[in-house]
Amino acid sequence: MKMAEKIVLAYSGGLDTSVAITWLKENYGFDVIAVAVSLGGGEDMVEAIERARRNGAIEAYGIDAAVEFVDEYLSRAIKANALYEDKYPLATALGRPLIVKHLVEQAAASQAVAVAHGCTGKGNDQVRFDVGIKTLAPDLKIVAPIREWKMSREEEIDYAADHNIEIKVDKAKVYSIDANIWGCAIEGGNLEDPWNEPNEDIYMMTASVDSAPAEPSYAEIAFAGGLPVALDGRALPLHDLVLALNEIAGRNGVGRLDMIENRLVGIKSREVYEAPAALALITAHRALEDLTLEREVARYKRQAEQKYAELVYNGQWFSPLRTALDAFFDSVQANVNGDVRLRFHKGTLAVAGRRSPESLYQYELATYDKADAFDHDAAAGFIQLWGLPLTEWAKRHKEQS
Ligand code: ARG
Repeated sequence: MKMAEKIVLAYSGGLDTSVAITWLKENYGFDVIAVAVSLGGGEDMVEAIERARRNGAIEAYGIDAAVEFVDEYLSRAIKANALYEDKYPLATALGRPLIVKHLVEQAAASQAVAVAHGCTGKGNDQVRFDVGIKTLAPDLKIVAPIREWKMSREEEIDYAADHNIEIKVDKAKVYSIDANIWGCAIEGGNLEDPWNEPNEDIYMMTASVDSAPAEPSYAEIAFAGGLPVALDGRALPLHDLVLALNEIAGRNGVGRLDMIENRLVGIKSREVYEAPAALALITAHRALEDLTLEREVARYKRQAEQKYAELVYNGQWFSPLRTALDAFFDSVQANVNGDVRLRFHKGTLAVAGRRSPESLYQYELATYDKADAFDHDAAAGFIQLWGLPLTEWAKRHKEQS
């Protein structure tokens, strides 16, 4: 008898990917290898993996890639101040390429011919998975069961019952949630009407403004070469530092976003995010760049940051432009050294102070007091030349009118 071909399934333990194990066998004849990749979202991988085996996966693995995620992906996002449409810190979008990398590696190790993922046909994530797989392993087939089977949630539950698939009965699931260490995305339910205010109970990482402490909290973050290296004077691996800031910011109600976002597939969607550490770190990093980047570098970098965020969002992590932009960011981060003091209070985040041994801020140039060393006479000549084109134009214009 011919051995069944193998498929590696990006498995989360939820309803969709639990049903997919059986469905892939039934419809394609595949033996399914379930792979759950955790990026620090706090999921119970052991339980999910055991359940995958009971549901018929021939192999099932849980991979904890949180540290790799922080070191190889989030460090770059920090240097790039990566915010899609100036707001969303891209937690989900940054995580997908790393999940793809692990799926593709598992496919090679298990000699699988295909990869499956549980994305729908409406979102960005299908693009990130498909394009990522096509770039890293062009020979792998891609199957997206949820895009194909067109079952409603109720039909999936019936399918599970008919096929003795063990599912974790989560109460009437209202929202679609994706969480990792960089943040959490919440969609669906009553959020689909942009007029509705999010219910307080959807938040997992942040306290409400009402329940946040009356007194502010401060965090002093030290940066070296554009990356955070210490918190309140204590050197910390970036992973631990992100965890600590999620806690401090979250406790003070900092890190919530509620936005209408333009998806790659053309639709606008209402998204609620929590990203306490991400927003704190990007705010702090920018504050230090304000002090240390030469003016034209700073201005040009803003444009590059926007492009970078779009590439990440649009599933082009494995692209020459993304790599080239990272090289540009690296080259301008050498002097981004120093400290930023952040203040968290009742849902607000503020930069309370910044300092750098390589600061380009010169007190003698900026001050209005006696220490002033700015050449005031040079200003007059500078203005004469700077304004020359306009003063000449105005003269001419006057003659003509
Ligand atoms: N809109 C965000 C993005 O495209 C989040 C997607 C979250 N996915 C989910 N299954 N809830 O990156």
